Amino acid sequence: MEFYPLQISNIEKNTPDCILVTFEIPDQLNELFNYRAGQYLTMKIGVNGNAVIRHYSICSCPIDKECRVGIKKIKEGVFSSVAHEHWKKGDVVMISPPTGKFCIPENLSDPDNYIAYAAGSGITPILSIISTLLRKQRNARIKLFYVNKTSASIILKEELEALKNQFMDRLEIFYFLTNENRSVSLLNGRITPEKLDIIFNVLADITQTNHHFICGPEPMLLMLRTYLMNHGVSKDQIHFELFHSEGTSKQLVKNIAKEHQDETSEITLIEGGKSFKYVLPTGSNNILDGALALSADLPFACKGGVCCTCRAKLLEGEVKMMVHYGLEDDEIEAGYILTCQAIPLSEKILIDYDA
Ligand code: FES
Repeated sequence: MEFYPLQISNIEKNTPDCILVTFEIPDQLNELFNYRAGQYLTMKIGVNGNAVIRHYSICSCPIDKECRVGIKKIKEGVFSSVAHEHWKKGDVVMISPPTGKFCIPENLSDPDNYIAYAAGSGITPILSIISTLLRKQRNARIKLFYVNKTSASIILKEELEALKNQFMDRLEIFYFLTNENRSVSLLNGRITPEKLDIIFNVLADITQTNHHFICGPEPMLLMLRTYLMNHGVSKDQIHFELFHSEGTSKQLVKNIAKEHQDETSEITLIEGGKSFKYVLPTGSNNILDGALALSADLPFACKGGVCCTCRAKLLEGEVKMMVHYGLEDDEIEAGYILTCQAIPLSEKILIDYDA
């Protein structure tokens, strides 16, 4: 993964625990940092001699030729603490070019109806997507269902309201609050299947909605995905990005480790033409984390089975994938795996990231 020095051209507080950071893209990097709405940047900083890498979705609209991310302060978060407490205008941050598959599909029909669902900082790629859709497609109509704790913690509220004022007849926003009570009970608390029943009875027609964009924590994403698929929405109409992944299921990993007690897996990874060999107690960890713990330099982002940054081809051996939201059925058929979700099962494993 290549990182380039980008200068902070603006930094501002958006909510008490979220900052918006804009980066200046020099002319020679323009093409490399050209992004699609919904993609994210990978950033690297040094903390006590260790490299700390994090991924932040771009919240600006590519049409504006701006590159801005929102960084929410996480309790005891190493990266977000540095960004919140030390970053200032003019500082330089090492950043890898935009990537990610959570994007607006190509060849959209016009007019189109969309629904977006976000929770907390999950609004960052969603804002980029909805502002791009509204500006690119004259007839795009969007409903946004957005969950936060309180009205003061709504990230990018000013930007959303400005967008709503600009596209008054084409954008509707419904703010759900989990720690504040309001008179409309539908909007109190998280989005649930019962509330979706009401939404699709009263506010939106599920059969007339062409695409659904979801960004938030795993339970919300899974609930929405299951609900939509159970109500006839096809897989290719549901686009999602996982935030704050809970990662692989600890219990499942434990069970596999128990079954393969005292066994080891010899794993060979080919990446960028080089090979990296290591041994992992069978079923003890996923292939990516096992290699990263030994300082291997491998691509990854969400570690939640969504972004496919860690995708590679299994050439030999057997693994168990915990989840694989981002892989298509034909990719799985062809032997592709997500190394962040793959628990080794066999004695020898050969994986090629370059395939
Ligand atoms: S790192 Fe995102 S799917 Fe593995």
